[in-house]
Amino acid sequence: MSGLFITLEGIDGAGKSSHVEWLAERFRALGRNVVLTREPGGTPLGERLREIVLHLPMHPDTETLIMFAARSEHLEQVIRPGLARGDVVISDRFTDASFAYQGGGRGLSEARLEILEGWVQGDLQPDLTFLFDVPNDVAQARLNATRAPDRFELEKMDFHARVRAAYLSRARRFPDRVRVIDGSRTLAEVRTRLAAIVEAL
Ligand code: TYD
Repeated sequence: MSGLFITLEGIDGAGKSSHVEWLAERFRALGRNVVLTREPGGTPLGERLREIVLHLPMHPDTETLIMFAARSEHLEQVIRPGLARGDVVISDRFTDASFAYQGGGRGLSEARLEILEGWVQGDLQPDLTFLFDVPNDVAQARLNATRAPDRFELEKMDFHARVRAAYLSRARRFPDRVRVIDGSRTLAEVRTRLAAIVEAL
């Protein structure tokens, strides 16, 4: 059986985290071995880079390079080996997040991001990307107030509006890969839609 690479994306508060584990369970029920992972992170080095990039102030170029450095390690240690074994690899965020946050949010050019993308991942792209989309005010209201916000969650509304617009532009550019999920629906409605897409896959 060939491996499947699935990524989950969306602005902070769009609701993707409520579905990651459930999605993994769907594939396990179909008899597939699932690797559940996340970015930035997914490896011991990547998790340390995550702490740094989410909390220390830095230049946008530095931030971008750390995201891709963590991704390079993640691809080598986790994603490519998982796919080679025939597993379903589900990553909570991947390169679309760099185009959305560092591109849309921070203003880095797509051309620069594409150079890094080609460098670390070659031709490898997710087979399927779920983009959880909600209006920015809905997302903001949902943000977990029980935990200290990270550098991205602390950004102003216009930053998050640019991130959302960049994500939606990725979805228009790659319509076969990126499926937009309306995250303002109920949990049950969202799951029905996810299940239909998984079934078709
Ligand atoms: P997130 O996935 O939202 O985790 P949690 O649910 O624990 O808050 O946090 C990761 C943050 O990192 C998120 O705000 C988006 C940001 N990010 C980037 O800016 N660029 C990237 O390439 C990736 C993978 C994430």
